Amino acid sequence: MIRSDLSQEENSLIEHAERARKNSYSPYSQFPVGAALLLDDGSIYTGTNVENASYGASLCAERIAVFKAITDGLRKIRLVAIIADTKDPCSPCGLCRQVINEFSDENTEVILANFSAQIKKYKLTELLPESFGPKDLMG
Ligand code: THU
Repeated sequence: MIRSDLSQEENSLIEHAERARKNSYSPYSQFPVGAALLLDDGSIYTGTNVENASYGASLCAERIAVFKAITDGLRKIRLVAIIADTKDPCSPCGLCRQVINEFSDENTEVILANFSAQIKKYKLTELLPESFGPKDLMG
């Protein structure tokens, strides 16, 4: 689904998130989520939620994408896309906002999508105002 109000880069990132969502392991919530990140070197990392019979061991799509990128040595997230089959575009949980914030700057944007061509686009700073981050530990 091409969303005409978004750039090619943004549409492509949503498609990556959509593809990752297909691999979701979410038998308990039945709520598959896909996420994709665009890093500062132009690379794209994806994640999907992975649940566990011990529910607390589950992990969200966004954090899996971030941890994959960090493991490969990337450190700066430019753009995030998140998609789920929701009425309103799916919004990231507080923990994921905090983890994305660790590797973002004031320009990092987050696109929330669903399957009705609805889009919401925010700066991360709007989703996590007055954040606590690396700068706060540097004196
Ligand atoms: N979930 C995500 O993966 N990302 C979000 O932004 C919201 C919630 C997952 C966690 C859990 O596997 C399922 O969705 C229901 O909360």
